Amino acid sequence: MRFKKPRGTQDLFGDRMRSWAKVEEMLAALAGGYGYSEIRTPVFEVSDLFVRAVGEGTDIVSKEMYAFADKKGRSLTLRPENTAPVMRAFLENGLHRSGGITKFWYQGPMFRYDRPQAGRYRQFHQFGAEAIGHPGPAVDAEIIDLSLAIYRMFGFTNLEVRLNSVGCPVCRPGFLNILRNALGSMKSELCGTCSERAITNPMRIFDCKECVDIKNRLPVITDHLCDECSEHFEGLQSILRGMKVDFMLDSLLVRGLDYYTKTAYEVLHPGLGGQNALCGGGRYDGLAEECGGGKIPAVGFSAGMERLMENLPEEFAGKIGLDPVDAFFILPDESVSAEVLRIAGELRSAALRVSVDLSGRSMKKQMKVASESGAPLAVIIGPEEIEKKEAAVKVLASGGQESVPFAGLSARIFQERKNEVD
Ligand code: HAM
Repeated sequence: MRFKKPRGTQDLFGDRMRSWAKVEEMLAALAGGYGYSEIRTPVFEVSDLFVRAVGEGTDIVSKEMYAFADKKGRSLTLRPENTAPVMRAFLENGLHRSGGITKFWYQGPMFRYDRPQAGRYRQFHQFGAEAIGHPGPAVDAEIIDLSLAIYRMFGFTNLEVRLNSVGCPVCRPGFLNILRNALGSMKSELCGTCSERAITNPMRIFDCKECVDIKNRLPVITDHLCDECSEHFEGLQSILRGMKVDFMLDSLLVRGLDYYTKTAYEVLHPGLGGQNALCGGGRYDGLAEECGGGKIPAVGFSAGMERLMENLPEEFAGKIGLDPVDAFFILPDESVSAEVLRIAGELRSAALRVSVDLSGRSMKKQMKVASESGAPLAVIIGPEEIEKKEAAVKVLASGGQESVPFAGLSARIFQERKNEVD
């Protein structure tokens, strides 16, 4: 083979592709049912958007960006996430002028140059939602509920919701000083990366898989929240309890992006091991300003599609069957292609789903493919049938065969489709 797909990417086709398409359709319907509408933004943006929004000291920006210069030397980046692009689009299109809460959902590929492993890809897909325009904790609760509704819909059990508050520009600087002081005496115990983080971005130490012991001895932000953040955090917990949503407080949860303020949360699945976050999100009240807009509060989440698809409970996965056509056309002789393609076109215009086997393979082989396709009928048209203007129609389940005039084909195929439904 001369070419291979780039490392950390996947080809989707066949049964897996069908499952993805079905799940995507259900997710769109779910978000629509919460009053969210779809947004599509470009797959690449000006690099500076991510540098400012996600944060220079984060792994995503410092190590994982697919950044490139275009022909005019501008730095662009394949989006590593979609919250910053959605906020950019919201501001650029003047949507803040309409007031109220703007609710968007999205779905599509994201790109991070990370070390590929189970559940971690370089091109992966997210389904996400962002609610922009209101600071109250009820919006955070709706976002958390929508993200959990995804997993409920597919029959997931044993999920864990981890919840934290990461403070805001009022209380965080004070906490960072306290944290730096505490770290001062532990420097020798930190791993290489965290020694650097202790200076550049000390909260990231809470995300380190190596410095576990130290993390548990560090001061936590929830003990140092300002009144507004505390009130918001308490308010959110009380709404979630009222909604009967189970959650665990986790003061070590910081998330890998810098734009968060107040709420940060993740949904974990025990089957995922190291890469155990099915989805994550939180509030980002400062992002609009960082992007050059006004003070516009917002909250959202993104769910990893690969992690969802790779952990779909069997029960649901088994229900996604074939999506067969109504009739599978078999050609004993390639000389009749033009006529058969014309007939197939007419049937499709009448809203029937028709597949034509143009492979020139043996009748036996074509019949086998027809049976495996799940189509209820095989329609055989060769030179003889063209002459008589009649097709040989075979009911694949029973093996029964009949002659049907071309003029009656559409009615016969519709009848079989109705029989199948009944
Ligand atoms: P994130 O935690 O970076 O947050 O990503 C969200 C989810 O995307 C993860 O929980 C995981 O399921 C999936 N994911 C992330 N990286 C990979 C990867 N390399 N391979 C496979 N799956 C991956 C965000 O992206 C934020 N934009 C979430 C958000 C929305 N916050 C507010 N609104």
